[in-house]
Amino acid sequence: MANPSILILAGDGIGPEVMSEVRKIIDWFAAKRQIKFNVSEDLVGGAAYDVHGVPLADETMAKAMSVDAVLLGAVGGPKYDKLDFAVKPERGLLRLRKEMDLFSNLRPAQCFGALADFSSLKKDIVAGLDIMIVRELTGGIYFGEPRGIFPDNDGGRVGINTQRYTTEEIRRVARSAFELARRRGNKVCSMEKANVMESGILWREEVTWVHENEYADVELSHMYADAGAMQLVRWPKQFDVIVTDNLFGDILSDTAAMLTGSLGMLPSASLGAPGKNGRPKALYEPVHGSAPDIAGTGKANPIACILSFAMALRYSFDLGDEATRVEQAVEKVLADGLRTADLMGPDGGKPVSTSEMGNAIRQALDASV
Ligand code: IPM
Ligand code: MG
Repeated sequence: MANPSILILAGDGIGPEVMSEVRKIIDWFAAKRQIKFNVSEDLVGGAAYDVHGVPLADETMAKAMSVDAVLLGAVGGPKYDKLDFAVKPERGLLRLRKEMDLFSNLRPAQCFGALADFSSLKKDIVAGLDIMIVRELTGGIYFGEPRGIFPDNDGGRVGINTQRYTTEEIRRVARSAFELARRRGNKVCSMEKANVMESGILWREEVTWVHENEYADVELSHMYADAGAMQLVRWPKQFDVIVTDNLFGDILSDTAAMLTGSLGMLPSASLGAPGKNGRPKALYEPVHGSAPDIAGTGKANPIACILSFAMALRYSFDLGDEATRVEQAVEKVLADGLRTADLMGPDGGKPVSTSEMGNAIRQALDASV
């Protein structure tokens, strides 16, 4: 059988730097575990715009559709701020999500023991935190029609976006949240604004329907998203899996990310429905952005991107034990006090560059076999 295939889209800013460290880990698996991937690379975001005049070329889109998993670095940067909306770097990412139909976005927020002091919250509130936000990723206000900026009757203009969710869009993401919960703490909290939005009322009804008919063994609660944001910073450990729509999920996942101390630590997986081979279409990316201010300085933290590859091992390649091996290697280097610039906090620690961090994680992997 052919080796499983991975398409790397490193993108902009710190994307290429952190992705180089992931390459070291991929190479390690080939050399030390005989787990070989067929890796190809292409352009996305501003990097693609510079070459093709669009943030994602059709050929790249076609490649993404044909591989087993896509690994993406980051997109965007000040150089591209003034571009037309339709060719902005972010549109490349949104096209991938939409055309690959990656409706379920898994954003774990885990607080590593060695970093509990780095959170902006008190240590006992975040130590040991392990929650999973499941964000709907292909619907809602990000894609709803009508949308646009139009002339208004009073001579001004009107900007319009539409929040729109169908039964099936809600049910499928709810199922993926319940499935995850069964393998974790068996609790799901669904967040919407059913008090002011009809789409929120439907969301609550459909999540409840899936629960009653298919997952009654899982504990389900509902919260308005604003109260949910408040609870996330008040006592985040009350949550196990949170399921929410595209826009609320965007906001709540940044909040949850910061609980853990640094955005530089958090991976994500965006999954579609399982295909003929049983594997879902999948894209893995760090939650952090392109951080143009530190690009090229060796300050970027490669851990989020490396942990995103670990998620690929778990969710695309059924290599959960190998994913755990990577996660433990990361824990080890953090416990040893290695710190990229974003992690230089209260406890001092040993400052390391992007590539030194990657090397240290590879060494910790060596020690694990
Ligand atoms: C995210 C980002 C994206 C989003 C941007 C870059 C389009 O904020 O993945 O959370 O809004 O979804
Ligand atoms: Mg976001």
